[in-house]
Amino acid sequence: MKHRLLSATLLSLSLLGGLSATYAAQPAHTPIYLDANRPIEERVEDALSRMTLEEKVAMCHAQSKFSSAGVPRLGIPEIWMTDGPHGIRMEKLWDEWADAQWSNDSCTAFPALTCLAATWNPTMANTYGQAIGEEARYRNKAVLLGPGVNIYRLPLNGRNFEYMGEDPFLASKMVVPYIHGVQRNGVATCVKHFALNNQEIDREFVNVIVDDRALHEIYLPAFKAAVQEGGTWAIMGAYNRYKDQFCCHNQYLLNDILKGDWAFDGVVISDWGGTHNTQQAAYNGLDIEMGTWTDGLAWSWSNAYDKYFLAQPFLIQLKKGEIDEKVVDEKVRRILRLTFRTTMNPHRPYGSFATEEHALTARRIAQEGIVLLKNEGNLLPLDPKQPRKILVVGENAKQMMTSGGGSSELKVKHEVLPWEGIQNYFGDQAQISYEEGYSLNPAVNRHALRQQAAEAAAQADVVLFVGGLNKKDNQDCEASDRRSYELPYEQNELIAALRQANPNLVVILISGNAVAMPWVDQVPTIVQAWYGGSEAGNALASILAGEVNPSGKLPFTFPVRLEDNAAIALEAYPGNGKDVEYKEGIFVGYRWHDRQKIEPLFCFGHGLSYTTFEYGPARLNRRQMNPRDSITLSVSVRNSGSRSGAEVVQLYLCDKKSSLPRPLKELKGFRKVVLEPGEEQTVTFTIDAQALSYYDDRQQTWVAEPGQFEAWVGASSEDIRSRASFELTDE
Ligand code: GLC
Repeated sequence: MKHRLLSATLLSLSLLGGLSATYAAQPAHTPIYLDANRPIEERVEDALSRMTLEEKVAMCHAQSKFSSAGVPRLGIPEIWMTDGPHGIRMEKLWDEWADAQWSNDSCTAFPALTCLAATWNPTMANTYGQAIGEEARYRNKAVLLGPGVNIYRLPLNGRNFEYMGEDPFLASKMVVPYIHGVQRNGVATCVKHFALNNQEIDREFVNVIVDDRALHEIYLPAFKAAVQEGGTWAIMGAYNRYKDQFCCHNQYLLNDILKGDWAFDGVVISDWGGTHNTQQAAYNGLDIEMGTWTDGLAWSWSNAYDKYFLAQPFLIQLKKGEIDEKVVDEKVRRILRLTFRTTMNPHRPYGSFATEEHALTARRIAQEGIVLLKNEGNLLPLDPKQPRKILVVGENAKQMMTSGGGSSELKVKHEVLPWEGIQNYFGDQAQISYEEGYSLNPAVNRHALRQQAAEAAAQADVVLFVGGLNKKDNQDCEASDRRSYELPYEQNELIAALRQANPNLVVILISGNAVAMPWVDQVPTIVQAWYGGSEAGNALASILAGEVNPSGKLPFTFPVRLEDNAAIALEAYPGNGKDVEYKEGIFVGYRWHDRQKIEPLFCFGHGLSYTTFEYGPARLNRRQMNPRDSITLSVSVRNSGSRSGAEVVQLYLCDKKSSLPRPLKELKGFRKVVLEPGEEQTVTFTIDAQALSYYDDRQQTWVAEPGQFEAWVGASSEDIRSRASFELTDE
């Protein structure tokens, strides 16, 4: 008995000891990588030192459609990514493009980025980023796969609606605050598609040939600003090739420029299926491989992820010593840095999702981005208190635009369509009727629809035509460029018939691209309304009703004919199935129109208001500056109309004499000012040597050449209100 008692005692002592031994086994201190009070770089090194080679390699490639591995053993979370630039995409199945059919992922759709760019309001870009970042954070995403800043090279690119227009300065100034807004939530932006992804035809392999000046002056600036001013934590490689190397593992773009010259310390993520080679992916700057179609025979199948170029093949070469471990360490450092900035940053906020506040933000952005292109006879605004018969015509008045378009598609909590918005604003006093007018369904007799709409138009007081494109294939959609510059589905014939029936016609275009307007001289009022997101219909109607005074300005040129576009005129699109050469060089958009003296249909920076603005003379504080100096330009702007409004004062600089060809003028400043009737404000711009510089490909650097310059101040790139000349002297 005694023996048993003793053994029982010993057992309990050992257990206690064991228990206390268990507690004692806990580390006396928190490991550095788990201590959020330690500098991130220390946390990175500590975590890296604890990882096995297999764990390191696992972090460098997808584990599912939209996630990459963490380190379960160390409590380092997975990285979950989400499209897209306009809102948080619905959940997809683990390894399928199919929707996961969740019931809690209906989001707020913010306006497409061309609409944001059309606000010319960096503060609004920051508001946009903050709101979409809150939605990404709430849905526990570490990376938002956007914004896109590829330059608008021609009006057929299917994804222009996702980007910020034709001018690198405007895109640069608008992308930086967007990034700040998103990342303030502890969510990384992944600015895309780096670089030269300016068409959808052959996007997965086409090799872009472009001269260094155009690369540095036109196609890289917005990405450079995103990195150096925006501090983006991730960049997405583009599908296409440059210098015959895929952009997702491109020595020149990723190592030399992005991580070298620009000192980017974030993560390079491939586009989905943009990785093609283990050696190049290892050495040429790629950090996380996503979306690869493993054996090339299928888009993906289970455990396909082991077959990724940066999975087993990479691990095997590392184990054999064919690739040095420091190569994978460099990738993992960046991935860990991203993790400590996002999922393992305990100080980040908790976000919010699909709120009334976000809907209001979406509406405000859309309201500020809508562009009044023409308003002869001041047909707009329509007083909503005045009884009248309003006829709404067009399929786009009742077409959802938040779905479709490719990877930027959204499943929304709500979408106010134009038809509903018009009812909301005018339904009390007006008799509102609807005619489809045109249909994308080829089986429909479009002549009959047109006839019926024209007859109804003759009976109305005012006709609101809502047309444009619709984010279906070849109509502003990823993976398919437009096949024509014309409006589809015989809309031109319909617009002509409506105008014939009733002169009080407002044409409202829903699109992300310029379109031909053969009826432009016959139609008194034209509104560019973009893809406006969840509140599109209310935003549009608030402009039509005059509750909001339009202040949007075009972020790209509307040429009269497609042939007026540089890439088309030079037969430099879509390439020969292998290469596409950007023969126009730096002369993109208004730069081309100025050089060729081609009058645009509507110019870059154009946008009307319900009030008018008068500009005073541009005044310079000095007439000379040296390269270390700067000059201040001041210009007064007065609201000379009868209602408050916002004006975007634009500054273009002209280099009167340069040793290399330069555009006539280039946007180098803009400021949006809100003015009450009669109110005057003075806007000032600082002009420094950087603003005067161009990229000299002979020296491979930016140069500001001494000589005469002119500052042009205007309400658009064509509506120049005043000029002032000055000289840049030698040192
Ligand atoms: C797509 C797009 C990219 C998107 C990604 C994930 O192919 O090019 O913009 O973020 O795949 O959907």
